[in-house]
Amino acid sequence: MEWILALALGYALGSVPFGIIITRLAGAGDLRSIGSGNIGATNVLRTGRKGLAAATLLLDLLKGLAAVLIAAQVWPDWSWLAALGAFLGHCFPIWLKFRGGKGVATTAGIAFGLAWPAGLAYAATWIGLLLATRISSVAGMSAALVAPLVALTLGEQRPALVLAVIAAIVLFQHRENIARLRAGTEPKVGGKKS
Ligand code: G3P
Repeated sequence: MEWILALALGYALGSVPFGIIITRLAGAGDLRSIGSGNIGATNVLRTGRKGLAAATLLLDLLKGLAAVLIAAQVWPDWSWLAALGAFLGHCFPIWLKFRGGKGVATTAGIAFGLAWPAGLAYAATWIGLLLATRISSVAGMSAALVAPLVALTLGEQRPALVLAVIAAIVLFQHRENIARLRAGTEPKVGGKKS
């Protein structure tokens, strides 16, 4: 029974589409018809509102972290399942007919909650590659791949497995980005509004 509650809590938290809520409340338009159509911070940035993008990034990260930390207190054996629930909630929210985001910010919070060194490696990879390439999808996918490897290296086997499953889904969620990268048409961040 506890596992269902942990999964449900994670899913409920993860499924809150902060990007859509924040942009709508700010009158910045419908994210679905802007840029990539994604609900994440990168696409909120394409509205030209940096503050809204930062808020989306922070809240999407915090919902992943909160799911893990709350579950760790209430159902210690099942915090990993709350983590997975939060990720799935963000990527496949029932409120958006299961068409959600790509999970990069939420996974940062999850990684910090499950194994903080893996979270640090995730954040360092993400920020470092974002600065180096200015391509958000490259930074996000790379960070998702690095986190389970770091967790595994540290002997954190369950977090490593959860983060590996998440990384596979992150790549799947970026399939359109991967096609654009191959075609050389993936936009960079900080450029003109797309
Ligand atoms: O976090 C999402 C990012 O990796 C890609 O976003 O809007 O460029 O598809 P976007």
